[in-house]
Amino acid sequence: MSMLNWDELENQCMSCRKCPLCEERTNVVFGVGPRDAEVLFIGEGPGENEDLQGEPFVGRAGKLLDEMLEIIDLSREKNIYIANMVKCRPPKNRDPLNTEQDACMDWLRNQVALLKPKIIVCLGRISAMRIIKEDFKITQEHGRWFEKNGVQMMALFHPAALLRDPRRKPETFDDLKTLQAKINEICDHTY
Ligand code: URA
Repeated sequence: MSMLNWDELENQCMSCRKCPLCEERTNVVFGVGPRDAEVLFIGEGPGENEDLQGEPFVGRAGKLLDEMLEIIDLSREKNIYIANMVKCRPPKNRDPLNTEQDACMDWLRNQVALLKPKIIVCLGRISAMRIIKEDFKITQEHGRWFEKNGVQMMALFHPAALLRDPRRKPETFDDLKTLQAKINEICDHTY
């Protein structure tokens, strides 16, 4: 796929029929945030609320994500872009199949190419395994930095996992502080 500009990309993505997830979606969940953000967060795929509203992370997990981001002065309104690996909701919120991820990945690749983020933060194991490395171990490797194609990458526990197991919240707090330090080190905007 050749590179599209933001408007072309969003328009084409909105009418995508590259995989069966298009059959049952209410909305394509393209992504949200300033298109000059230096930090990109990548989740797994839309859930029910996201499918209904057409925006990533707007349900309970999304509310927790926003609270976490606020701790280090990040927000989708101001300074970060949030996207998912797959843009349409998998039925019953199951993990997106590899075939669905493959079909959808060009949209995300084009988003990354346009955004040129300095930092990518993967939300959860599924995203980290696809974006950072195939054998990513979220319990051991969350909060650690990896460099790929000149981009600094790390993973956080998925906010839905934190809702299920709040005992992991202190570790995530430490990871957020690590992220904040990296932003202060390599990002240009005043955060
Ligand atoms: N979980 C995700 O991974 N992405 C969303 O957009 C919502 C929940």
